[in-house]
Amino acid sequence: MKTYTLTINGKRTTIEAEPDTPMLWVIRDYAGLKGTKFGCGMGLCGACTIHLDGQPVRSCQTPVSTVKATSKITTIEGISANIDHVVQKAWIQEQVPQCGYCQSGQIMSAVALLKSNPNPTDDDIDAYMAGNICRCGTYNRIRKAIHSAAATLKTEAGTVKKSPKQASR
Ligand code: FES
Ligand code: FES
Repeated sequence: MKTYTLTINGKRTTIEAEPDTPMLWVIRDYAGLKGTKFGCGMGLCGACTIHLDGQPVRSCQTPVSTVKATSKITTIEGISANIDHVVQKAWIQEQVPQCGYCQSGQIMSAVALLKSNPNPTDDDIDAYMAGNICRCGTYNRIRKAIHSAAATLKTEAGTVKKSPKQASR
């Protein structure tokens, strides 16, 4: 066992674990954050997706020993305080989930996609989200929600850029 100090959703957490313990176990069993799901445990389904320094990673394939003490780990619980991240709101608006099991991972990937590409095409979405499997087949609604979130972000960016005088016109 070794001691690791991690920053999960902005909170410093010290744990004792074997070096090869997957971050998925750390998040769910040590930190008690159950939003991140175990699907395949083999890096194939994306249900366990978290962000490591802003990049989406499969937490089932990320041993705790590979995570730096300075790294920022973000889980589905950490992307907004009140389930009001623009992507979460789009997911609710488009009623994306069916059973819901894959959806934390889908949302984490969608958040990362929109950060790297704020205006993705259907092909961009399909390529980026290809590693996130949904057994319920909610792919069309996922696409719709990502477009909707992208449109909201574009509107918000336009509103911020306009001066108060311009905005009142
Ligand atoms: S549980 Fe990690 S990719 Fe499936
Ligand atoms: S909503 Fe059921 S697996 Fe995706």
